[in-house]
Amino acid sequence: MKILGIESSCDETAAAVIDAHNDTVTLLSNITATSAGVHARTGGVIPEQAARKQIESIIPVIDLALHDAFPDIQEPKSTSLLANIDAIAVTVGPGLIGSLLVGVETAKAISLITHKPIIPVNHLVGHIYANFITSGEQYSPPSFPALALVVSGGHTDLILMNSHTDYKWIGGTRDDAAGEAFDKTARLLGFDYPGGPLLSAAADNYVESTLIRYESLNLFPRPMINENNYDWSFSGLKTAVLREIMSISKKNTTIKLADYQSIAQLDIVKKERNRLAAEIQEAVVDVLVEKTLNAIDIYTPKSLLLAGGVSANKRLRIAIQDQMNHRKVETQLYVPKPILCTDNAAYIATCAYFHPKKISWNKIDAKPDLSIMDIV
Ligand code: KG4
Ligand code: ZN
Repeated sequence: MKILGIESSCDETAAAVIDAHNDTVTLLSNITATSAGVHARTGGVIPEQAARKQIESIIPVIDLALHDAFPDIQEPKSTSLLANIDAIAVTVGPGLIGSLLVGVETAKAISLITHKPIIPVNHLVGHIYANFITSGEQYSPPSFPALALVVSGGHTDLILMNSHTDYKWIGGTRDDAAGEAFDKTARLLGFDYPGGPLLSAAADNYVESTLIRYESLNLFPRPMINENNYDWSFSGLKTAVLREIMSISKKNTTIKLADYQSIAQLDIVKKERNRLAAEIQEAVVDVLVEKTLNAIDIYTPKSLLLAGGVSANKRLRIAIQDQMNHRKVETQLYVPKPILCTDNAAYIATCAYFHPKKISWNKIDAKPDLSIMDIV
């Protein structure tokens, strides 16, 4: 079965084609355009601009994904290439309404013209399915029960999956998401949006160049780490970082958190940026790992699935495997390739394959406020 996936929930415009049989998913193409560069200096996504970029990119991205998927078909028109597709998968939420509508309405137009069914996909559930994309001969798909840690720019959730259709939310963030914590503290340190990957690179650089032990990186608080639940709180981290900056700087004046630019310009911040980045990264990773390992102890899943943009974080990937080895758990860790962790349409198409709810185009709507447990 060949599925065209379309993803446009935020600032990425993506299309991909998969070929799936007997729970084996082969990626035929995977194209992503991003408007992150437009938002780099403003410190966050501007919805109106993101939606405009979605409109500009959606058709070229789909066109490219179709041509990449069927290189042997000597047919220049995408409309003819669509004849090879069995269904269209599209993200219906959660996300920015203006951005979502671009993908949803495009999918509806394609469905109307080609008579192919649409499979609506919840973006957050979709992220988990990056782990079900077959990669290489050694790959064996995750076994159930599986525990999924979804860590993205807007969400941090732990999901226990007994099967593809039977899953429950067991915990999550009470305030900011893990990616949001990375991005906001990165902004204080003067990194462009999205700051997560840049902060992470600076942190890794600091650890490699100083040979400091991870255990020594304990400057910032680890909220809720000893609580008997699977919840997190990340909103205090940015205040803790600001407090540290104020305490190491010689200035007596108080700078407000909202004044990102003045903070990033301080000499002491420029000088201490990599060290602070390493401390921030370790504080976020530590609590993510601890609560996830606690959930593994209680639920003893056969697989642990990392998902979402933050799961591209090298330190998180290593720390979680280290702790699993240390605690001798038998759970198998699945971590998507970094390119499949951040927003793309390959996992949207894959999620649709495992949730084949085909719907007529006139019953599909964008749903900006979907939660991870909402059925689409
Ligand atoms: O899943 P995603 O691509 O988009 C959402 O659905 O939100 O996640 C984006 C988030 C951003 O906050 C970004 O800074 C973070 O993932 N991120 C990282 C890394 N790569 C992406 N955070 C830390 N380390 C990384 N290597
Ligand atoms: Zn996402």
